[in-house]
Amino acid sequence: MNPTVEQMHTYTRKGDGALELPFEKPVILPKAGDADLARHAWADVRFAADIMAEHALFFALLMPEELAAKERAEALQFSKSFGALFERVDAGPPPERSGLKKFTDEIVEQIKPFIEYKARLGEAQRTGELRSLVWPLFFDHTRHEAERWTRRLIALGQGESEFERSEVVAFWANIMEEHARFVAHLLDPDEFELIDKATSASRVFVELGSGPGGTVRALADEPATVLDSLVKNPEIDAVMSAAQTILDFKTEAARGIEAARIKSIIDPRLSDHVRREAQKFVDELKRAV
Ligand SMILES: [Fe+2]
Ligand SMILES: [Fe+2]
Repeated sequence: MNPTVEQMHTYTRKGDGALELPFEKPVILPKAGDADLARHAWADVRFAADIMAEHALFFALLMPEELAAKERAEALQFSKSFGALFERVDAGPPPERSGLKKFTDEIVEQIKPFIEYKARLGEAQRTGELRSLVWPLFFDHTRHEAERWTRRLIALGQGESEFERSEVVAFWANIMEEHARFVAHLLDPDEFELIDKATSASRVFVELGSGPGGTVRALADEPATVLDSLVKNPEIDAVMSAAQTILDFKTEAARGIEAARIKSIIDPRLSDHVRREAQKFVDELKRAV
C-alpha cells in the first residue's frame, strides 16, 4: 500500500476500512484538522482525476457507436488519460513544497479540454445535433464539477488549502440536487417509492442551496428527509444533516443496485461515483470555515 495513505483518513461505506467489492472505491482525504497543502493537493488531484476518468467512461457508456462513434472514442481517450494520471498520483507521494504548483497545474491543464468537450457536446445534445443518451444536464453537471475542481486545484497551487463554507454549500447543494434528479430519472419507472424519495431529496437541496432562509424552508418543506439524521444527532446543523442523509441514501442505493434489489439503468460505477461525491461533500463541510 502507498505509505501516503497511512497519513490520511480513508472513508469506506461501512467505516471499518473494508471495501464492498467490486464496486466500492475508498475516499482518501487528509485527516480531520490537517491543513497540510501537499496532502490536500495529493488527495484532491487523486479524487478529481478519478472522477474525470469516470465522467468520460459514463459518457462512453451512453454513446452507442451508431449514434456517436467519434464522441465516444474521444470520451474513451479522456477516460484513459485521466485514469493514467490517477494511477500515477495514487501510487506516489504528495508533492514537495517546491513542486506543488506544477503538480496541480498538470491536472488543471488536462481538465481544460475536457471542460470544452463537455460544453460543446452539451450544446450539441441540446440542439439535437448530437443524439447520444447523455442528457444536456449531465454534460452541464459534469462540466460544473470539472470547473469547480479547476478552481480548487488552482487555489491549492497558490497555497490555500482552506474550504469556505458558503462555496462548499452552494456548490455541493446544487450537485446533490441534480444527483437526486438523475437517480429519479434512471430508476425503473416501477420504483415508485424510491423515485418519490429521490425527488423530495432534490427539493431539500434546492432550498438549502438558495441562500439565507433556505435551511428553514427546506426544514418546512421536507421535514422527514432533512430531519432523519438531525434527530439521531441533534447538535449537527441542517446542511450537514441533509448531506449525511443523502450520503446514507446513496450508500443504500448503491448496495441495492449492486444486489439488483433496485430496478434501474444505473451502472454500479455511477452509483458509487455519486456516493463518493456525497462523502466528499460531508468531509468538506466538516472542514469548512
Ligand atoms: Fe461527478
Ligand atoms: Fe456529480
